[in-house]
Amino acid sequence: MTTTPLKVAVTGAAGQIGYSLLFRLASGSLLGDRPIELRLLEIEPALKTLEGVVMELDDCAFPHLAGIEIGHEADKIFDGVNLALLVGARPRGPGMERGDLLSANGAIFTAQGKALNSVAADDVRIGVTGNPANTNALIAMTNAPDIPKERFSALTRLDHNRAISQLAAKTGAAVTDIKKMTIWGNHSATQYPDLFHAEVKGKNAAELVNDQGWLENDFIPTVAKRGAAIIEARGSSSAASAASATVDAARDWLLGSAKDDWVSMAVVSDGSYGVPEGLISSFPVTTKDGDWEIVQGLEIDDFSRGKIDASTAELAEERDAVKELGLI
Ligand code: NAD
Ligand code: LMR
Repeated sequence: MTTTPLKVAVTGAAGQIGYSLLFRLASGSLLGDRPIELRLLEIEPALKTLEGVVMELDDCAFPHLAGIEIGHEADKIFDGVNLALLVGARPRGPGMERGDLLSANGAIFTAQGKALNSVAADDVRIGVTGNPANTNALIAMTNAPDIPKERFSALTRLDHNRAISQLAAKTGAAVTDIKKMTIWGNHSATQYPDLFHAEVKGKNAAELVNDQGWLENDFIPTVAKRGAAIIEARGSSSAASAASATVDAARDWLLGSAKDDWVSMAVVSDGSYGVPEGLISSFPVTTKDGDWEIVQGLEIDDFSRGKIDASTAELAEERDAVKELGLI
């Protein structure tokens, strides 16, 4: 087992997601016994709050937490990091669409992309949770030309987990009985959670459910609009579940997905499944040793084609909007 600590940066560390994420990372949910060192980035006014969070981390006496550094300068905090979890961004409030966040949050990711490009470790992996996650990842990737594009991903694991949970409830299966779930496209209301390739105890999920009405009018909108439903109910956006999904995604990326399964990750498109090359779009992927591969050869029927095209068209619009803003 490697005993060198993995240096993990978390941005927006004093925020809601950070408050759950840091404790999950430090307690071993990411790497088990392998020590980690936390590098926590915040804006200056939030550093005092972050100091309080660090006191709490200290007070947990986590055996595998090898050190914590905090600060507001990306160049210092990202120095030598192996994993960067970019969470810090302004979240959506009630009634806002993700598009409203493009300019507010885009600028954060140009600066952080540049900083990662100059100081991160050669093996760095970058996971973007802050919204609009896919396009923020595109901005960071474009501003980090020396880091291979494959090292960037945006979080659609929360949507993936939500879809598994909804399907488990519908079929009475355990979540562990469900495999090969896929989220296609954008982490937004246009995303397409796909049951045509998912399996429940080895049986095709769409055939098992055999209810196109439920699939179209219940399952897909429930998963795609879950973020908004949580904002409506809690008054603020999902935090613990987002942190949990951030850990799930990073762990599978670094340690590998299960043999008989795949996961959803938004990664740079190579044109697979007709998704325009260069967009950061969610795909079914398998992961191994810190690398991912898009699952190939899935049949896409007309219904799925329409849904994937709609979500990737939205991604292309977001890309064009940030290009217009000079962010990429
Ligand atoms: P929050 O407002 O509680 O925390 C965000 C933190 O980011 C704040 O502490 C803020 O000071 C910090 N921040 C702002 N600019 C920064 C910068 N330039 N550098 C470092 N830190 C900075 O928000 P939250 O609830 O923790 O959510 C964070 C982001 O995650 C939001 O964009 C939210 O929409 C998104 N989110 C994504 C998913 C997903 O599945 N992809 C799910 C839930 C939330
Ligand atoms: C979510 O999916 O819960 C987050 O992305 C929050 C949001 O804005 O929907």
